[in-house]
Amino acid sequence: MADISWYQSDEKFTLPYCCYNSRIMDKKEICLRSLADVQLRFLCPNDLDEVRALCQDWFPIEYPFYWYEEITSSNSRFYSLAAVYNQQIIGLIVAEIKPYSCLNEEDAGILAKSFSSCDVAYILSLGVMKEYRRNGIATLLLDSLLKNLTTPERRKVKAVFLHVLTTNSAAIVFYERRKFRLHNFLPYYYSIQGKCKDGFMYVLYINEGHPPWTIYDYLKCMCGKVMESAEFFPWVLSNINKALGWLWGGVQHQRQESTTTQADHSSQT
Ligand SMILES: CC(C)(COP(=O)(O)OP(=O)(O)OC[C@H]1O[C@@H](n2cnc3c(N)ncnc32)[C@H](O)[C@@H]1OP(=O)(O)O)[C@@H](O)C(=O)NCCC(=O)NCCS
Repeated sequence: MADISWYQSDEKFTLPYCCYNSRIMDKKEICLRSLADVQLRFLCPNDLDEVRALCQDWFPIEYPFYWYEEITSSNSRFYSLAAVYNQQIIGLIVAEIKPYSCLNEEDAGILAKSFSSCDVAYILSLGVMKEYRRNGIATLLLDSLLKNLTTPERRKVKAVFLHVLTTNSAAIVFYERRKFRLHNFLPYYYSIQGKCKDGFMYVLYINEGHPPWTIYDYLKCMCGKVMESAEFFPWVLSNINKALGWLWGGVQHQRQESTTTQADHSSQT
């Protein structure tokens, strides 16, 4: 397999799928032999029309025009990364970092109280062109985001979260495979073509972030401590035993010595 390179990093990736595997391909699917020719770059204003057309194809939600302007702007507050192949955008991820304290009510509660002054990252969009799916493109984009979020400068970011339609099984499998965990069921979260649809909220904890503790966590912790002390007591007992043995040995030795001296004295007198 050819070495894979992309101009933001010299990391090497292995392809999950290649043309020569036994998978039966859909006629329209394009199986990339290697991700070497896939480049990652940030969106720029010239991408607006292309990105808009892609999002309209991928997502049932209509985004306002200004949103496209914002994610493609040169000084965007979003992390808007595109996967480009043959000078065409074939996938993109859009995420933003925000203070945990600014989350909406339905998203609050993902972090323990001790992280109230920390940040979280929200994935607004992740999509790959239908023909290029199952080639690892979404994985490449998500990995790049996570790599950025786990740098020392980003250690305040304690979780990454997203919303997904409960019916979007491809995305659910994708995120669950990447260790995102279901945090919340959001009934009627989406309004799609006038109809209310349910959503899920998925979370991945990073940079030592963790959810609030439940009774189960407290019980688990207490059990852990009991188990630890159960291991600790035999150690203490065996050491006390050793110390007593050593002391007893010393006492015996002294006794022996004093009896020998007494015996010497009595034999002399
Ligand atoms: C979800 C989506 C982004 C995945 O993109 P992708 O480039 O195909 O994903 P990858 O190739 O990196 O997949 C990685 C793993 O995720 C899982 N996965 C991805 N798509 C899957 C599918 N349709 N069915 C089952 N598992 C799937 C697989 O485990 C896959 O590994 P494998 O191919 O080795 O089995 C893509 O299907 C998509 O663009 N969907 C439409 C937009 C969307 O719904 N986005 C999510 C909004 S939250």
